[in-house]
Amino acid sequence: MINNLKKNQLHFNKTIVLVGFMGTGKTTVGRLLAKKTGLAFYDTDALIEDLEGTSINDIFLEKGEEYFRLIESKLLRELLAKKQIILSTGGGIVKSQENRDMIKASSISVALKSSPNSLIKRLKGSQKRPLLQKENFEENLIKLYNQRINLYDFADIIISTERKTAQKIATEIYDKVTRQYLKL
Ligand code: S3P
Repeated sequence: MINNLKKNQLHFNKTIVLVGFMGTGKTTVGRLLAKKTGLAFYDTDALIEDLEGTSINDIFLEKGEEYFRLIESKLLRELLAKKQIILSTGGGIVKSQENRDMIKASSISVALKSSPNSLIKRLKGSQKRPLLQKENFEENLIKLYNQRINLYDFADIIISTERKTAQKIATEIYDKVTRQYLKL
């Protein structure tokens, strides 16, 4: 007998793209969503590291942010062409209007939003984010947050992550997408 979850999985014929500021939990939530939907999971940062054979930190250091953004956009285009995947993206992918348009046109986009205080707690001490490896960590994070906050608003679904586990967030997204976008 096909239970409800399996039935939804069979009909889950959409791509979901997760966007959001660094530290909002896109990768963890994306993996959980992939399990729930039965779709393949991709993560732009992990793929860029594989493609370049080095860490995001080193790419920024050796080749610069502009180079990173070029690969990120190229990869995004390729991944969106795959259809029916769960894709977690780097926090800065939305800086490009073209990327935002591509995501909007080819997927159900989901923005994860966290408060600056939660982000400060989550990101403090992270060695993996080149844009935050500067003095005045908090000041710098808040500045970037304020510059970027509206860039996530294009998403079809906006989810607050405050006081929620990754599992709860994944379930919330799954339920919303199933209700609003899938004809079962
Ligand atoms: C970036 C976010 C990072 C990574 C790179 C740049 C950004 O991804 O792509 O360090 O500009 O916000 P996460 O959002 O997964 O940390």
